[in-house]
Amino acid sequence: MSLKDSVQHFKTLVVSFHPVIVIETVEEERVQTLMQKACTDMQMPIFEWSIAQGLMRSPESPDNRWQNEYAPPGSKRGQALPKTAEPIDMLRHIQDMSFKAIFWLKDFAPHLKDAVVARQFREVVQQFSLNRSTIVISGSGVVLPPELAQDAAYLDLKLPEPEELMAEVSKVARSVNGKVAVELTPEVVHALVKALRGMTLSQTRKVVSYAAYHDNKLNADDVKRIIDRKAQVIHEEGLLDYFPPETNAAELGGFEGLKRWLAYARVGFTPQARKFNLPAPKGILIVGIQGCGKSLAAKTIARQWNLPLLKLDAGRLYDKYVGESDKNFRRAVVLAETMAPCILWIDEIEKSMGQSNSDADGGLSRRLFGYFLTWLQEKSQEIFVVATANDLSAIPPELLRKGRFDEIFFVDLPDDNERENIFKIHLNLRNQGLEAYDLPTLVAVTEGFSGAEIEQAIITAHYRALYENRPADTALVVEQVKRTVPLSVTRREDINRLRAIAKERFVPAR
Ligand SMILES: Nc1ncnc2c1ncn2[C@@H]1O[C@H](COP(=O)(O)OP(=O)(O)O)[C@@H](O)[C@H]1O
Ligand SMILES: [Mg+2]
Repeated sequence: MSLKDSVQHFKTLVVSFHPVIVIETVEEERVQTLMQKACTDMQMPIFEWSIAQGLMRSPESPDNRWQNEYAPPGSKRGQALPKTAEPIDMLRHIQDMSFKAIFWLKDFAPHLKDAVVARQFREVVQQFSLNRSTIVISGSGVVLPPELAQDAAYLDLKLPEPEELMAEVSKVARSVNGKVAVELTPEVVHALVKALRGMTLSQTRKVVSYAAYHDNKLNADDVKRIIDRKAQVIHEEGLLDYFPPETNAAELGGFEGLKRWLAYARVGFTPQARKFNLPAPKGILIVGIQGCGKSLAAKTIARQWNLPLLKLDAGRLYDKYVGESDKNFRRAVVLAETMAPCILWIDEIEKSMGQSNSDADGGLSRRLFGYFLTWLQEKSQEIFVVATANDLSAIPPELLRKGRFDEIFFVDLPDDNERENIFKIHLNLRNQGLEAYDLPTLVAVTEGFSGAEIEQAIITAHYRALYENRPADTALVVEQVKRTVPLSVTRREDINRLRAIAKERFVPAR
């Protein structure tokens, strides 16, 4: 909803006798802008209250005429009414006021736990439902007692719209102008605003000012700086991990089938594809044996397409407050959308959206899953989803149905050719000259080994070599291999079962 729509919605609620409006947000300044616009149109005064300051006519109230010859022109100041800081006193005061107004109560919800305050509040609300005065309660995570919640209308103030971000960028540009070189063309402003999407106004102000003072320039170079800073903010929120394309060095041996598909799917993102009204690829699911490179494949796709990679942390979705998880997931996908074009990687999807055998989580993973399916259908074209799964039996069958993902790939244990590639990649990574190694022998002894098991054998061999102060060689690696019992032996039945299902239904990744 744009700011204009929110203003309209707010006005409609007020004139249709809604005595209480709850605005869910951490950004008080945006509540202020919203109410100021709405109240100017309606010619209604705004009063604001906080426990720290008491009740006062809002400095932004359309009828505030406060003037001070020493203050800069146009500045306004509020002055608190005496004895209104206590919630109960404030409520009595506004009950006695005889004209229509908007009363903005900041961080008020917790005070309603007090029975006397709650009762007084109800009386004010009953009165206001007859005379069009309205109480606005703002804050984050506002919870009203149930008997009061039914009188409240909720207005969800989403993240700032491009127009609001644009206004904020102009404001900062004006304030730094003269101190730094401002080189902003409409194209650069557009790119800045695109990079800022998903940030709050106060984050925007800080990031843009920082970018300007950092090198005393505000120009096209700052777009990148802002994207990096946003990635940092995203990371701090803890729901998504961010891998920028520049630092992504993933190298994947084998997976020829998947690599071919990716090269082919790439045309789906081109303008020509749009011209033929072809939808962009939605995403893929990679199912398969643990340690065979599924997670690595996700990273490789981002690298190959040169896109930012965002990894959804399933564990952190399940907040300690039940019910928050849906919200967390929504927040995560909103953030991902602001980073588009990008890849959203949902690793081990069965852990966040799998079928749980108990109702202990109140059907939470079911709800999340339902939400995910809808989102997958409707999401922005510029997000490509890569999901991975180890355990097919825990995945809701709906997810495997045709049309959900563009393709479902099955990753089996690597064959000879691929194991050779994996050896090459990992020996190279450890700065080993390949001539010193007998690759055919290594390939032969690792039949049935996963990539992860091969890597582990190389690592332990190198530790041994370092410890014994001699170069690593084929014999040392073979020795480590012989000591390993691979998953393909310990979990043979599981793997065979997975293979049997996957062979008929999914496309081989290799
Ligand atoms: N095909 C491969 N090519 C290169 N390295 C691999 C390959 N498969 C596995 N590995 C190594 O094993 C590690 C674990 O693989 P990972 O992608 O996490 O497996 P999965 O997600 O399938 O359980 C990787 O980080 C990589 O070092
Ligand atoms: Mg993995």
